[in-house]
Amino acid sequence: MQKFRLDNKLALVTGGSKGIGLGIATALAEAGSDLVLVARDPDTLTQAGAMLASTGKRIQTYSFDMRDTDKIGELFSRIVSEIGAPDILVNNAGGTRRGPAETLTADDWSFVINLNMTAAFCLCQAFAKERIKSRKKGKIINIASLMSETVREDNAPYAASKGGIRQLTKALAVDWAKYGINVNAIGPGFIQTDLTRALWEDASFDKWVKWKTPWARWGTPEDLGYAAVYLASGASDFVTGQVLYVDGGLLSTFGPSSW
Ligand SMILES: NC(=O)c1ccc[n+]([C@@H]2O[C@H](COP(=O)([O-])OP(=O)(O)OC[C@H]3O[C@@H](n4cnc5c(N)ncnc54)[C@H](OP(=O)(O)O)[C@@H]3O)[C@@H](O)[C@H]2O)c1
Repeated sequence: MQKFRLDNKLALVTGGSKGIGLGIATALAEAGSDLVLVARDPDTLTQAGAMLASTGKRIQTYSFDMRDTDKIGELFSRIVSEIGAPDILVNNAGGTRRGPAETLTADDWSFVINLNMTAAFCLCQAFAKERIKSRKKGKIINIASLMSETVREDNAPYAASKGGIRQLTKALAVDWAKYGINVNAIGPGFIQTDLTRALWEDASFDKWVKWKTPWARWGTPEDLGYAAVYLASGASDFVTGQVLYVDGGLLSTFGPSSW
């Protein structure tokens, strides 16, 4: 099982301070990787760093707003010169602005597309340029969604951004295979995090998720971590352009036959 180890690797995880990003960061560190975590709130980053210290790996944090897409290249160069060049990139930072499509503003649209898709593209590009220049292999993991395939109401920009992430993953996988860079995505089902707090605290929605999901539960950030270790490791060298759905079977069903 040595192929799954990530010793002597450095992973950059955006949105790594909590939720899914922290779950992924924890698993990558347990598999042997050092970490660079990027998010906005410095206090949450410090708490995440303290929590991950028990893994014994080197953990560095950068407070940065990923919506500043024209400064992403600069941020990446700073990380390379201060910490080293990442071997693994996890584009996880994301968010949404919900509302009926006819009422959303252009600002709502750009907020979501910018954070969920443009920022991911810019960071993928900075990462790939460095890998190509230094002639080293790399692993990119983008965070997709069930909304990369299907939709729920009142979330049009998010659905567009996550559908875009699925196609971007394939496009970059094809462009960069010749450089030894794998580009894959993880598509989480309904995962209990701050982003979905209003949903899992709503008793009727909670019941619906458990009814709709064959495994009859919410996912946890830990569920995503192991999938990330696989896609970050040598065990997945011939896997590229894929979205691995970690959703308790939800995408595979219309739902149980009894309501
Ligand atoms: N939870 C789910 O059920 C679910 C399902 C499918 C897909 N996803 C996707 O999974 C990813 C993580 O979601 P989550 O549920 O873990 O959310 P979360 O608990 O709200 O965590 C979001 C993380 O991203 C960071 N972040 C948010 N906006 C940022 C910005 N502008 N710049 C830099 N960092 C930023 C947050 O830190 P700061 O706030 O301090 O910046 C935090 O570390 C997202 O891409 C989301 O779309 C989630």
